[in-house]
Amino acid sequence: MSTPSNSTTMLYLVPLIIMSCMRFVLAANFHRDFDILWGNGRGSILSNGKIVRLSLDEYSGSGIQTKCPYFFLRIDMQIKLIPGNSAGTVTAFYLASEGDKRDEIDIEFLGNLTDEPYTVHTNIFTKGNGSREQQFHLWFDPTRNFHTYTITWNPFMIVMYVEGTPIRVFKNMESNGVPYLKDMPMRVYLSLWDGDQWATRGGTVKTNWSESPFKAWFRNYKVRGCVWMNGESSCSSGSSNTVKHDWYNLKELDSSSKEMLKLVQHKHMFYSYCNDSSRFPHGFPLECDEK
Ligand SMILES: *[C@@H]1O[C@H](CO)[C@@H](O)[C@H](O)[C@H]1NC(C)=O
Ligand SMILES: *[C@@H]1O[C@H](CO)[C@@H](O)[C@H](O)[C@H]1NC(C)=O
Ligand SMILES: *[C@@H]1O[C@H](CO)[C@@H](O)[C@H](O)[C@H]1NC(C)=O
Ligand SMILES: *[C@@H]1O[C@H](CO)[C@@H](O)[C@H](O)[C@H]1NC(C)=O
Repeated sequence: MSTPSNSTTMLYLVPLIIMSCMRFVLAANFHRDFDILWGNGRGSILSNGKIVRLSLDEYSGSGIQTKCPYFFLRIDMQIKLIPGNSAGTVTAFYLASEGDKRDEIDIEFLGNLTDEPYTVHTNIFTKGNGSREQQFHLWFDPTRNFHTYTITWNPFMIVMYVEGTPIRVFKNMESNGVPYLKDMPMRVYLSLWDGDQWATRGGTVKTNWSESPFKAWFRNYKVRGCVWMNGESSCSSGSSNTVKHDWYNLKELDSSSKEMLKLVQHKHMFYSYCNDSSRFPHGFPLECDEK
């Protein structure tokens, strides 16, 4: 009698899934929308779900992920990075699918020595293939206050924003043979870890553990997304109006945003794979031509 019948199992499972993954936009609450994934107590949800603090010491970092997978979304996240000597640390805000051949959209903040600039390291993976790095320095100190970082992912393009300014666009150029992220749902992840093998000045500056634990802070996120539940997107059901949202339908940046993107890339981007002829001696990847 200890084995429940299939129908009993269903009765238990269905409400659990619905309760753990909500599709409605409500005020930010990390308890409701995120699970602590790893770190053995180093990641904490504070202030009734309003704030997350991730920490890193020489034994472990920490990380959290959304309960829901999404099939297209816009997420805004306010982040305050590790102050002082953060060299070697990596604070990551990213979307990823599951498995080896992952799709992934990364914004990683690479720490630095006191008073030296963080690097914003961005990358886009399609089915396990990254190698689309672009790196930026910020135009403000990201450790003094919270600032808003945004990822939008829709059927037409991926856009990364810093304080509302687009810094990077990756368009759906499937018709030209460039792979796009549209076959797998992704969750949102936040994590803090030791990357001193490569992060700061190419790995030459190591993490100084006498200054640990290192702490990064997250708050006031806003998710507008198509929740992926039971093999179906909340945006494809007739009852949802998510598909009417502008982030979902945006095919191109407007002309002033395009100007801002150009300016930011000109002034603040200091590495782009699309400019690295030593890596692509026989010509740059096709997506690099898109303007
Ligand atoms: C650290 O500072 C150096 C010197 O200003 C800079 O070249 C580098 O991009 C900064 N960021 C990282 C992560 O190394
Ligand atoms: C690490 O930080 C401590 C405390 O701030 C400092 O005394 C020490 O010189 C630092 N070590 C290195 C290798 O910079
Ligand atoms: C692109 O390459 C040119 C020429 O090598 C260089 O001057 C410029 O700084 C590079 N820009 C980026 C963003 O890598
Ligand atoms: C991975 O992506 C890069 C950048 O678009 C491309 O140049 C390369 O050919 C891709 N590699 C594979 C194995 O698809």
